[in-house]
Amino acid sequence: MKNTVATFAKAKKEGRKLTMLTAYDYTTASLIDAAGVNSILVGDSLGNCMLGYEDTISVTMEDMIHHSAAVARGAKNTLVVTDMPFMSYQTSVYDAVVNAGRLMKEGRANAVKLEGGVEVADKIKAIVAAGIPVCAHIGLTPQSINAFGGYKVQGKNIENAQKLLDDARAVQAAGAFAVVLECVPAVLAAKVTEMLDIPTIGIGAGAGCDGQVLVYMDMLGMFSDYVPKFAKHFAEVGEAMKAAFQAYIEQVGDGSFPAKEHCYAMPEGVMEQLK
Ligand code: KIV
Repeated sequence: MKNTVATFAKAKKEGRKLTMLTAYDYTTASLIDAAGVNSILVGDSLGNCMLGYEDTISVTMEDMIHHSAAVARGAKNTLVVTDMPFMSYQTSVYDAVVNAGRLMKEGRANAVKLEGGVEVADKIKAIVAAGIPVCAHIGLTPQSINAFGGYKVQGKNIENAQKLLDDARAVQAAGAFAVVLECVPAVLAAKVTEMLDIPTIGIGAGAGCDGQVLVYMDMLGMFSDYVPKFAKHFAEVGEAMKAAFQAYIEQVGDGSFPAKEHCYAMPEGVMEQLK
């Protein structure tokens, strides 16, 4: 059955944990979908993981639409949430609604995600009023990395922790159907989760959240440029890929690949008639 925003609301009510993983292409989306994960996030982390940028700042609307549409073709039952990239919503309420609409129409997303709390509440409200579900994202918001001065855990002092609570209340009041909590102390994330009626989806925010999200390359051990503390490896796919690539080099080199079963046969008699 297709996961929707109603699935998220029901899970929160019934105390069932939600799962979300990132994906950026059709094949990975199909595998995640077949496994039964509730939601795929087409994250702007594609800037780091797919495009090799050092942060998410350079990711464009065209990048997000291109990858979102590919994911949507592979996601039959999974709720597709697509990130609004840097400067696609911060500039004005009008830009926010127009660009959220493009992610739905051209990127075939089921919902959009944007970063920030109190300061983007007006944008969330307007996008929701246009009939587009919004997932909020507070705590460490990577698009503001230059303002934060690095990838730092958020909410560790009273002022910062209070800001997280205020942001959480603001995005819920603005109509967000869920909120991602990134890199905040587990006890604070648990307090936000208890306080809100909408589900919290944690990444580096402890087990007290209503659900979890991970970048799929992190959880498969494929991405080694930067390994955050919360990125548990559920498999060593990167090592398995490297070993397969090396076996390919070896077998092409020694002639054992391609073998007979990988080759096409010629109908009898054709070769003999060639001049
Ligand atoms: O872009 C992304 O992958 C994200 C997750 C880290 C939550 O926003």
